[in-house]
Amino acid sequence: MEVPYDPAPMRRRPRLLILGLTSLAVAASIAACGTQRLNVPGASPTVHNGAVLFSQRCAGCHSLAYAGTHGSAANVRSREITDGPNFNVRCERPVTRVLYAIENGGFSGAIMPQNIVLGDDAKAVAQFVSTFAGRQAPKIVGQQVCQAQPIGTFPAPTATTGGSTSTSAGSSGGSAGSSSPNAKSQAPISSNPGGKSGK
Ligand code: HEC
Repeated sequence: MEVPYDPAPMRRRPRLLILGLTSLAVAASIAACGTQRLNVPGASPTVHNGAVLFSQRCAGCHSLAYAGTHGSAANVRSREITDGPNFNVRCERPVTRVLYAIENGGFSGAIMPQNIVLGDDAKAVAQFVSTFAGRQAPKIVGQQVCQAQPIGTFPAPTATTGGSTSTSAGSSGGSAGSSSPNAKSQAPISSNPGGKSGK
């Protein structure tokens, strides 16, 4: 007696395979979330970390291709009040300029939230922005291109934060004021993919 040919088992396998591939792809794209569109050639770990943070916290309002963000207004008519400057075309040097904006909520303090990132994270973001912003800026006669401008350094650790941003335990009592015993190894920014350090 002959068993009628049943194609079902044959068919099932490819479908399973496709299902498997699909979920693999989904998993991969989730895993890549937040980092895949980063494009930070030559970045130090700190600057790379800054790019990750930027893509997570600043993307909604600022454009910067190196972090894969498009938050700035694409054109004036669709512009929203919260749209921030486009860092592809806007030079943001030195790093203290960016740190100032992070701590104060832009320059006006009116729209951009303050302290979206803190402490070393804020510095990493500032370093990232300073390093990569302005590369598509239009050339202006008589003005140095952004990459030729000094990127600068941060002031001594005690000057910027007053310790309030450090979460590490053991900073001895708030009353001690600004000098944090943990401020230790906040070396001046060492990484400068460009090579020579500003100034
Ligand atoms: C809610 C929207 C919003 C978010 C989120 C935001 N910004 Fe802004 N940002 C703005 C706006 C709007 C301005 C310009 C107006 C002003 O300075 O008040 C600005 C200004 C700035 C400036 C000054 C630019 C210049 O040259 O004048 C810097 C630097 C900056 N932002 C960096 C950041 C960084 C870094 C982050 C993430 C940690 C961030 N912003 C998150 C809206 C935002």
